[in-house]
Amino acid sequence: MSKPDVIVCSSADDLCRKAAAQFVTLAQKAQHNRGRFAVALSGGSTPRALYSLLAAPEYTDEIFWPGVHLFWGDERCVPPDHADSNYRMVRESLLSKIQIPGTNVHRMAGEKEPRVAAAEYEEKLKDFFQLTPGVFPRFDLILLGMGEEGHTASLFPGSDALKEMKRLVVATYIEKLNAHRLTLTLPVLNDGAAVLFLITGAGKAPVVREILKDGSDPPRFPAAQIQPTHGQLTWLMTEDAAPKSRG
Ligand code: 6PG
Repeated sequence: MSKPDVIVCSSADDLCRKAAAQFVTLAQKAQHNRGRFAVALSGGSTPRALYSLLAAPEYTDEIFWPGVHLFWGDERCVPPDHADSNYRMVRESLLSKIQIPGTNVHRMAGEKEPRVAAAEYEEKLKDFFQLTPGVFPRFDLILLGMGEEGHTASLFPGSDALKEMKRLVVATYIEKLNAHRLTLTLPVLNDGAAVLFLITGAGKAPVVREILKDGSDPPRFPAAQIQPTHGQLTWLMTEDAAPKSRG
């Protein structure tokens, strides 16, 4: 695995602009090389501003949306119009402002029974990526966030979902949130060609520091287990989330 890039941004807007520029570059490269760009979107609140920026003329005019396929890295087990839905967040911030074919938007069915929804999404990935048994999908870009306790996607500390090394998608119950979630598994996240963390907020600084310290082995935090086997990992963070001294 190549060493991760760690980029400290002067503000949340600077972080979104850097992420948007990388999105455009990777989309143009993937579409030139393979005629399509497959990206797994992060949920939560941080990426909302990025998705809005991607819909702005400065960026959207550089993206051939009919060649973009949007997937989700995780989803809350709620209907698509629920306030907690990651799909709804993307619909409001991006989908409602761009011209992208509905067949290119591959949401997780949060409204369904979690295990059924996970199995269906797994089949969707196998079909889209034309996977043979035992092969993982290779997204051109995976966007991720991180919680203050080091979770990423919906892989939380101590979760059995972290042990899943065969399935592509699992349903998981998050005790502390009293909530069911759907999430891509570690092997899928670690097969990404480019994996980009978007991290803001001083509350995340202690875990970021812990993760970026060399030699945290075995990794204590789920976000530290994101170590793409043959892809580029980039940590984009604002100054308040960055380790103060890289010692
Ligand atoms: C989710 C996300 C989750 C998120 C982190 C950080 O569904 O909530 O996928 O992994 O990225 O919780 O969330 P914020 O960006 O809101 O801090």
